[in-house]
Amino acid sequence: MISTQKVTKTVSTSEGELQILQPISFEVKAGESVAIVGASGSGKSTLLGLLAGLDEVSSGEIYLNDEGLHNMNEEARARLRGEKVGFIFQSFMLVQSLTAIENVMLPAEIAGLKDAKARAKTILEQVGLSHRAHHYPNQLSGGEQQRVAVARAFINQPKILFADEPTGNLDAANSEKIEQLLFKMNQELGTTLILVTHDSKLAKRCQRQLNMQGGALTETTSSDTATEQGA
Ligand SMILES: Nc1ncnc2c1ncn2[C@@H]1O[C@H](COP(=O)(O)OP(=O)(O)OP(=O)(O)O)[C@@H](O)[C@H]1O
Ligand SMILES: [Mg+2]
Repeated sequence: MISTQKVTKTVSTSEGELQILQPISFEVKAGESVAIVGASGSGKSTLLGLLAGLDEVSSGEIYLNDEGLHNMNEEARARLRGEKVGFIFQSFMLVQSLTAIENVMLPAEIAGLKDAKARAKTILEQVGLSHRAHHYPNQLSGGEQQRVAVARAFINQPKILFADEPTGNLDAANSEKIEQLLFKMNQELGTTLILVTHDSKLAKRCQRQLNMQGGALTETTSSDTATEQGA
């Protein structure tokens, strides 16, 4: 489903070139759930943006379903994102001029689905926000905006869902609600789940854990976890 080979990301800054990601190679099978953990500033969001085709690699190769993202221009990547990818941004990225329900409907309308509004209503109910459907983002709390962003990522039932700290702004009850929705989609629809989280409990609910450290990615094996638990 996802395959990367020696992917790097370097950006130009006023102090020169900054390498954010060291060469990263890994594979994710269809239907897997994978958590990416690591310190703030280690490169997790950067990697997620590259995997989802939101940003361009500096070198290396990324394949989504055998389609080479690294060879595509923005237009082709946008098409692929529309067809296959859902993304929950760390900073939500809601459209400020649209209400909650209009934000959720947007990907379905772009995809030409006739039942966009009915779908949006159902998902808003699932994230506990029916009573805020007609509020604009600046009339919503941080956690409410996050749940709108989750609902928007779900509406087209994407093949791959990328979630950057999907529960970072939520209380325990709402976190649990969102986690249940994520894993339900993973199990019932076979959605591949790649999520970034600082919550070790959520990370452990995923089948695999990857650890980002200074732009380098390593897999945490179950024996590492056993050592941690033994310590
Ligand atoms: N466009 C850019 N120009 C310069 N530096 C950047 C750019 N984008 C990211 N960085 C730097 O790259 C590093 C990795 O950023 P990234 O957002 O991927 O971290 P993160 O692991 O998601 O952190 P957090 O857990 O705080 O969200 C950071 O030090 C950041 O300042
Ligand atoms: Mg981040």
